[in-house]
Amino acid sequence: MKLPGLPLLIKGDLFAVGSGFFALIALSGVVSFFANAKYSEVRASQPIAFDHRLHVEDEGLECSACHMYYERESFSGLPRTNTCALCHFEPQGESAEEEKLVQLIQDGAALEWASLFRQPPHVFFSHRRHVVVAGIECTTCHGDIGLSEEPPAATHPLTMDECITCHEEQAVTQNCASCHR
Ligand code: HEC
Ligand code: HEC
Ligand code: HEC
Ligand code: HEC
Ligand code: HEC
Repeated sequence: MKLPGLPLLIKGDLFAVGSGFFALIALSGVVSFFANAKYSEVRASQPIAFDHRLHVEDEGLECSACHMYYERESFSGLPRTNTCALCHFEPQGESAEEEKLVQLIQDGAALEWASLFRQPPHVFFSHRRHVVVAGIECTTCHGDIGLSEEPPAATHPLTMDECITCHEEQAVTQNCASCHR
């Protein structure tokens, strides 16, 4: 069971959250079943096998060159095709994967990246708050994805336990309504 002791907390904390959330608790088994099915499906199917290490280490690009929003928004953003097209409208090298990319760009196709860390819609998370205000490194929550050479297969979205463990250590709120809005 992922949430030991939860029933004990419901009475005190949950009234602040609102009635939609009670329905959610009743359904939570169903919710996580579908969520897990979705995560395992998306991992296998990125449109291009993207190499972070090559772009970050060898080409020296900042994370914000492609994930443009974490300094001012709750989300980080996945890159648009236009961002890749800045360099890949013409081939930069000779790899088959890049050839595929250049073709997609020249055809005007949109790259739809599947997100590996997506939280369910009842969870509120802010990148700006964690990265800018609290000064936490990307690697603390995302591991070494910035140095991976292919789309990672072993990532998982943070669990509630993982959020709360750090909040406990850093004396930040554990109020249900802060994370479930
Ligand atoms: C405290 C933990 C934490 C830190 C630090 C963190 N992230 Fe995230 N990241 C998350 C969570 C949680 C999600 C899922 C958010 C959601 O689904 O609402 C996420 C999602 C993402 C996504 C998916 C798409 C999107 O629009 O959000 C990207 C890209 C991303 N993070 C990049 C970064 C980068 C780059 C940094 C460092 C500048 C960073 N993250 C720092 C926890 C973190
Ligand atoms: C600032 C320029 C720049 C941007 C922006 C950029 N790339 Fe690259 N990319 C390069 C360079 C340079 C190479 C190396 C070419 C070589 O030497 O093979 C490369 C190589 C690649 C390769 C071939 C390497 C391999 O492992 O097969 C792929 C695929 C690729 N990039 C995908 C992307 C995608 C997808 C985006 C957008 C999310 C992107 N790139 C954005 C400069 C860029
Ligand atoms: C040249 C563009 C580019 C740069 C620079 C870049 N990324 Fe990415 N990033 C991508 C693309 C494309 C994806 C989606 C494909 C994938 O998962 O491999 C992605 C996926 C991610 C994800 C997974 C988000 C999710 O929910 O699936 C995280 C986390 C992330 N990047 C973090 C970083 C960090 C940290 C850095 C800097 C160290 C960085 N990225 C630099 C293009 C980039
Ligand atoms: C620091 C942030 C945070 C706080 C505080 C928090 N949660 Fe969560 N909660 C999450 C995240 C993230 C998820 C989704 C990931 C997961 O299921 O572990 C989640 C998931 C859940 C779920 C769905 C579980 C499932 O299996 O789908 C329930 C129910 C829940 N929380 C109840 C609560 C209650 C009740 C409280 C207050 C006692 C609370 N949460 C406080 C972050 C938080
Ligand atoms: C590595 C530590 C760490 C992790 C992991 C982490 N947080 Fe936080 N979080 C913090 C810190 C530190 C702050 C306080 C930032 C500030 O000073 O405003 C914070 C603040 C917040 C706030 C604002 C709280 C308020 O006062 O309103 C929310 C909401 C939140 N986190 C949600 C989450 C969720 C959801 C997750 C998991 C998906 C998560 N956090 C994971 C460290 C963490």
